[in-house]
Amino acid sequence: MVKNKQFLTDVIEGLSADTKHISSKYFYDKKGDAIFQQIMHMDEYYLTNAELDIFESYKSEIAQLFSPEKKPFNLIEFGAGDGMKTKVLLKELLTHGVPFDYVPIDISQNALDQLNKSLTKEMPNLSFKGIQGDYFEVLNKLKESNGRRNVVLFLGSNIGNFTNNEAKSFTSNISDKLNPGDLLFIGVDLKKNPKKILLAYNDPKGITAEFNYNLLRRINRELGGNFDVGQFEHHPTYDPVTGECKSALLSKIDQEVEIDSQTFHFAEWEPIHTEISRKYSLKQVHQLAKASGFKVKTDLFDSHKYFVDSVWEIV
Ligand code: AVI
Repeated sequence: MVKNKQFLTDVIEGLSADTKHISSKYFYDKKGDAIFQQIMHMDEYYLTNAELDIFESYKSEIAQLFSPEKKPFNLIEFGAGDGMKTKVLLKELLTHGVPFDYVPIDISQNALDQLNKSLTKEMPNLSFKGIQGDYFEVLNKLKESNGRRNVVLFLGSNIGNFTNNEAKSFTSNISDKLNPGDLLFIGVDLKKNPKKILLAYNDPKGITAEFNYNLLRRINRELGGNFDVGQFEHHPTYDPVTGECKSALLSKIDQEVEIDSQTFHFAEWEPIHTEISRKYSLKQVHQLAKASGFKVKTDLFDSHKYFVDSVWEIV
C-alpha cells in the first residue's frame, strides 16, 4: 500500500500525544466530501441555508461591492467545495456583465473535479480555473500577476475550524498578500442558542457522527489501521463562553489499535479530539478584522441573524 506520508506522520503524532487528536482537515477524502454534502443539506445544519439566504437577499449589492465600476477582477475562493452557494453569486455577476475570473482553490482534488464538471455544464460563459493546493501560493501569484482587484471568498464559517491563533495568522497572511482596495468576504457562524448549535453537530440521523467515524475508516483504508469503529462514540460539546463547538471520538472500551505496526492504547472513554467549529460574536469578528490589518466595509446577515458575511477591505 502506498501511504500518504503526511497523513501517517500526523496521525501517529496526534495519537501519541497526551490528549489524543487528529486534524479535521483529514475528514475530507472522497467519502468525507460526500458526507459533508449530506450535512449541508440537513435541516439541523442551519449554516448553509443562512448563508444562502444572505446571497439570495443581497446578490445585487454584493455584485456592486465587488465591482462598483464594473472593472474586471479576480474572484478567488478558498475551500470552494461543491460551490453550491457561490453559484448564486457567479450567476448574478455574469448577468451584471462584470468581467471576472473565478479561481476556486481547494485541498480536495475530488471536490475540484466535481466543481469543474458542474460549472462547465451550468455556466459555459464563466471564465474559471480551479487550483488544488496551498491558498497562499496562489495569492502570491495573483499579487504579482494582472493588477486587477482581488476579492477573496472564505465562506461557510470555515474560519471556525481554526483556533484563535490560527484564525488570526490565517487572516493576517491573507491581508499581507493583498493590495489596497482588495476585499476579503468572510462567512462566520455567530453565537446563538447553544441547543441550536449542538443539534447542528449532533443530528438525530447520525450523519455528523458518520462524518467523524469516516476519519477512523480512512485511517483503516489508507494507513492500514485496524480501528473497530463500533467501539468509538461521536461526542460533540458546545461551550458558550469560548464559543467552541468541539467534536471528539470516545473509546467505549479499553482497547488497542494498530497503525503501521505501531500500537496505540485507548483507555475506556478516552477522547480523540477531531474538530473545533468556533462560533463568534459580531464584536469578535470585527476584532479579528482589525487585528489582521483589514477595515470592515459592511456586514450582511440572514433573516435570523444566525450568520454573518462580513466584507473586509485593505485600506
Ligand atoms: C467545514 N466546516 C465549516 C464545518 C463546520 O461546521 O465546522 C464542518 C462540519 N463539521 C461537522 N459538521 C460540519
